Amino acid sequence: MVIQCKIYFSQQKPVETFSVEFYLADMKTTTISGAQQPIVFESSGECFDDLINWIGSNQSDVVNQLHQAGALLFRGFPVDTPAQFERVAKAIDSELKNDYLGTSPRDKVQGTDFVFTASELPGFYPIMQHCEMSFLPNPPRKLFFFCHIEPPYGGETPICDFRKVYEQLDEKVRNDFEQKGVMTVRNYSGLGSGSKFNLFELKKWNQMFLTDDKKEVEKKCAENGIEFEWKANDSLRLINKTPAVITHPQSGRKTWFNHTQVFHISASAYEYKHIHARQQRLKTLFYSLFTAAIIPFKKFTNSPDEQSMNMKFGDGTVIPDEYVKHIEEVIWKNMVIFRWKKGDVLAIDNFCTSHGRLPYEGPREILVSWSA
Ligand SMILES: [Fe+2]
Repeated sequence: MVIQCKIYFSQQKPVETFSVEFYLADMKTTTISGAQQPIVFESSGECFDDLINWIGSNQSDVVNQLHQAGALLFRGFPVDTPAQFERVAKAIDSELKNDYLGTSPRDKVQGTDFVFTASELPGFYPIMQHCEMSFLPNPPRKLFFFCHIEPPYGGETPICDFRKVYEQLDEKVRNDFEQKGVMTVRNYSGLGSGSKFNLFELKKWNQMFLTDDKKEVEKKCAENGIEFEWKANDSLRLINKTPAVITHPQSGRKTWFNHTQVFHISASAYEYKHIHARQQRLKTLFYSLFTAAIIPFKKFTNSPDEQSMNMKFGDGTVIPDEYVKHIEEVIWKNMVIFRWKKGDVLAIDNFCTSHGRLPYEGPREILVSWSA
């Protein structure tokens, strides 16, 4: 692989608008405002089959680049349909999967085997930075996102290099997490259908496990190292203990790899403060105040194990709120936020790079696939 680097600094614009341009096997690549991720592969007018053939011929270089940078963005190529997106994802990794034990309501896209809507959560609801299914023993290795309908406002899918987050955390916070690991607690109410959103509840357990059969649920829990407990009215509590940090298989760097900034009871209030600081809308002010007010109420009315979701240290002790606040500050400092363009395909190394979603207005359709 020959890389030519050109670094542009504009005299009229602030330094942070510089971009880095280089070539990977004759494909022009750039960066977004000089960020280390994602590496952007830009179309030079190739047709769809040219893109598939190019990825096929350079697959190992592409995957190496993905492991190094953490994220690659293919932009401007004629990727128009979910089926075409699936072919791009398969060209990068032929082992796509379609099992999902995460918390987002998701729908499979017709006419594909491995493409899903990224999340059916309503537009005002933020999705905090996370590595997909980090609480399971075998999380997806790669993720692929596709912009089918470009949102007119917001709805970015920010990404963050969790290797940097690990390195920049306060030493005591980092040590506590490394020594104790984390315990993920999720509570699902009884059987249900449809993807109706409830602010105070996760989706129903049969929607996540795709079965109403409790024995089948128990089998899947055992396969994934999840402790389960059936409660009154068919409700289900899931608990799993995992390390808080992993070592990235290719770079050998340690990576923050847990859902504390998503599932901890205080996480949403800190997240919305950051979101309001960025979007500065009446709606974000409302949700920022609302989440700050609702959390003491939730803490008062339910024990830590009875929250719809929560995170504790692996030994069962409470993760202090100030730890969560600090983690979110480090994440926001390292986040890369860019606007979606129709046809974008974003590939993510799930073992080092997180993703999330900012609130949005208007239509938006982002699709997702993942590999083993
Ligand atoms: Fe996700």
